[in-house]
Amino acid sequence: MSNDYFAQKAQSYGQNPDRVDNVSNIANAILEKVELNRSMHLLDFGSGTGLLLERLAPHAGKITAVDISPSMNRQLEAKRKNLGCELEILEMDLENQDLQDRFDGIISSMTMHHVRDVGAMFRRFHQHVKPGGFIAIADLDKEDGTFHTEDTGVFHFGFEQDAIAAAAREAEFSDVQVRSVSVIDTENGHYPVFLLTATA
Ligand SMILES: C[S@@+](CC[C@H](N)C(=O)[O-])C[C@H]1O[C@@H](n2cnc3c(N)ncnc32)[C@H](O)[C@@H]1O
Repeated sequence: MSNDYFAQKAQSYGQNPDRVDNVSNIANAILEKVELNRSMHLLDFGSGTGLLLERLAPHAGKITAVDISPSMNRQLEAKRKNLGCELEILEMDLENQDLQDRFDGIISSMTMHHVRDVGAMFRRFHQHVKPGGFIAIADLDKEDGTFHTEDTGVFHFGFEQDAIAAAAREAEFSDVQVRSVSVIDTENGHYPVFLLTATA
């Protein structure tokens, strides 16, 4: 993904109540499943305007937000002073660039369907999580292609839960679990969302 596909959407992105509700459901599911603490340094992959990380920030020490989109990053920057933890924003393409740090956990919401090679991304996650750390990755179940009405750089119409779990296991994650945590209802349909959790 080399363009700012979200340039037109960034300003109003966080104002869609269905989108906000979906990310709240994902955040609540992560908090139920993973024990966070204030010493943790987390990576949010495809952080966007920060809908997910702002909910988890009061439970972490620091969050590194990685997003390729300058316009989404600007929206997140504006929230910095009201976040509950330290924030680092990195404008980069995680499909093609590595980070220096290793993290206690990686979180991500609604971004994996924008990734061309999901297996390679799980391997990259594995390199960037400390041994014993976690990943918590949420995205759409397999859909019929009607979810996106605009081109935002989509490579996958969601994922079969078994297939994405297999990709995480192939990248050497253990205790891989996938469960349904939310549903997005739009005028085009009913789109279930899963949360995959695993340990490095
Ligand atoms: C659908 S938005 C989700 C934003 C946020 N996580 C949320 O749930 O509201 C996907 C985000 O992933 C970012 N993104 C897509 N591919 C990326 C990549 N390879 N590296 C970094 N960011 C990426 C996009 O720029 C966009 O901000």
